[in-house]
Amino acid sequence: TGFDEALERLPKVELHCHVEGTMRPGTVMELARANGIPLPATEVTELYRYTSLDEFLSVFWLVQSVLVKRADWARLAYESVVDAAAHGRVYAEVFFTPARHLAGGQRLEDIVAGLHEGLAAGEAETGSRAMLIADIDRAYGPAAGLLLVQEVVGLRRRNTPGAERILGIGMDSTELGVDPASFREAYELAGRSGLRRTGHQGENSPPSAIATLVDVLGAERVDHGLSIMEDPALVERFALERIPLTVCPNSNIRIANAYPALADHCFPGMRRAGLLATLNTDDPALTDLDLGYEYRSVAEAFGYTWSDMVQIALDGVEASWLDPADRTALR
Ligand code: HPA
Ligand code: ZN
Repeated sequence: TGFDEALERLPKVELHCHVEGTMRPGTVMELARANGIPLPATEVTELYRYTSLDEFLSVFWLVQSVLVKRADWARLAYESVVDAAAHGRVYAEVFFTPARHLAGGQRLEDIVAGLHEGLAAGEAETGSRAMLIADIDRAYGPAAGLLLVQEVVGLRRRNTPGAERILGIGMDSTELGVDPASFREAYELAGRSGLRRTGHQGENSPPSAIATLVDVLGAERVDHGLSIMEDPALVERFALERIPLTVCPNSNIRIANAYPALADHCFPGMRRAGLLATLNTDDPALTDLDLGYEYRSVAEAFGYTWSDMVQIALDGVEASWLDPADRTALR
């Protein structure tokens, strides 16, 4: 319909997208072959099967494992921009989670340079821009998290290629049995060093973990944040302080099995409560999504009008870490 086409073309900002989760199935196959990484299936789509966050994460880790050389990161980043721009994305702050690559001996400097090269090529071709968020993988523990932040700070100090693209830090992977406060040192260093801070929380952890992320770790944004709806006082505070939540409704259904269907998602409840809840895809290639579909399906499931959807897109600008002059340009 005309509405669907308009949503596809509506200029959109995305603040919750993992670059590894944008990897085209064909690219997974080609990089695996080129780098001698054995895959447990001959059809990539057969790999993309999971029924919980932790099962999904093992697929995510397998996809990550095919990234070996700097050029692999560049290809991934380039394709991520081209693919998202085709669905109306004009600006993104994209996660990369290098824990297993660093543990395997890759250098952060090469990863960042590769990502930068690919993002710049995608930007030149499409005009769609992308910045980076260095994500801590909780599964590797607080010491690895601190080391990642130290290395990011080092790259920025030495001004290595792509270092200026890293706007901040985040934290992803498993939430079960992990106290976010244990990553305090990493988050404090990031804050002292002028890095912005976000973190995945409340995808399958309680609202108290969301509060810890903000109050103890100093996060200014929360990724997912679903369980906040169990704590009305916390909802009221987030609404008042306009603390953004980067919500990924279709991902929550396909990855975390958090709701039976899209129509059951808490996204409209969040917005009705006055929360700055933005719309994002999370891992579009691994979940067979794109940002245009995310907007169309949410509009349809919740009966949103054009002006509702424009406001959601504008909330993405407000929640972003763009400086004020760049914000105005996007609006
Ligand atoms: N949650 C946690 N870790 C992740 C996700 C997610 O949705 N996507 C990629 N890594
Ligand atoms: Zn995520």
